[in-house]
Amino acid sequence: MLPKSITDYAEAHTTPTSDLLKKLERETWVKRLHPGMVSGGYQGQFLRMLSQMIVPKRILEIGTFTGYSALCLAEGLPEDGLLHTIEINEEMETPIQEYIDAAGLTNKIQLHIGNALEIVPTIDEQFDLVFIDADKINYSRYYDLVFDKVKTGGYILADNVLWFGKVTEKNQDEDTAALNAFNQKIQHDARVENVMLTVRDGLSLIRKV
Ligand SMILES: C[S@@+](CC[C@H](N)C(=O)[O-])C[C@H]1O[C@@H](n2cnc3c(N)ncnc32)[C@H](O)[C@@H]1O
Repeated sequence: MLPKSITDYAEAHTTPTSDLLKKLERETWVKRLHPGMVSGGYQGQFLRMLSQMIVPKRILEIGTFTGYSALCLAEGLPEDGLLHTIEINEEMETPIQEYIDAAGLTNKIQLHIGNALEIVPTIDEQFDLVFIDADKINYSRYYDLVFDKVKTGGYILADNVLWFGKVTEKNQDEDTAALNAFNQKIQHDARVENVMLTVRDGLSLIRKV
């Protein structure tokens, strides 16, 4: 949505990622369908630093894809911290687990394969940070499902809230309308404070007050 010269400049002035994350991003673009879903270096560095600021003991991620954002978010976990990540595509189980192991995060990331709508209620944790990044149509449902599992003062991050700018257009497809409804819901929820960041495709940072 920003001019390419600006995004190139911002990326050129952001700490480069590790060799492992570079390999994962490259492999995602070469091997996977819809590789543009990967967080990538710029957003990944943002997620990593945000997690390092929060130092969350428990993180929940909804929508793992190739594991890129999970590896970034896990960097803020303390020694006894744990990140649960949920991916519906069972074909991704082996490649995701390989990268978790290669990153030395086997004991810090628990991968769940299945539908997040069914798995979230079975995870008995209170979270400091939740990252919603799965199917857009269900964002509001994920928000409702996780809300009571977020600690007071904890954060919910939601990706793609600008949806390539389509949320501002008049004629909206199903996903765009769902994201718009989600954005409205957050804006009018007195239980939270929030800021919509124009990082990449839009990231809403929501804090349970
Ligand atoms: C945008 S990608 C996630 C990208 C990843 N978080 C990253 O930043 O690199 C969305 C992922 O959510 C998964 N997904 C879609 N619906 C889901 C559901 N109901 N439960 C769990 N995962 C789901 C998709 O298969 C896809 O891999």
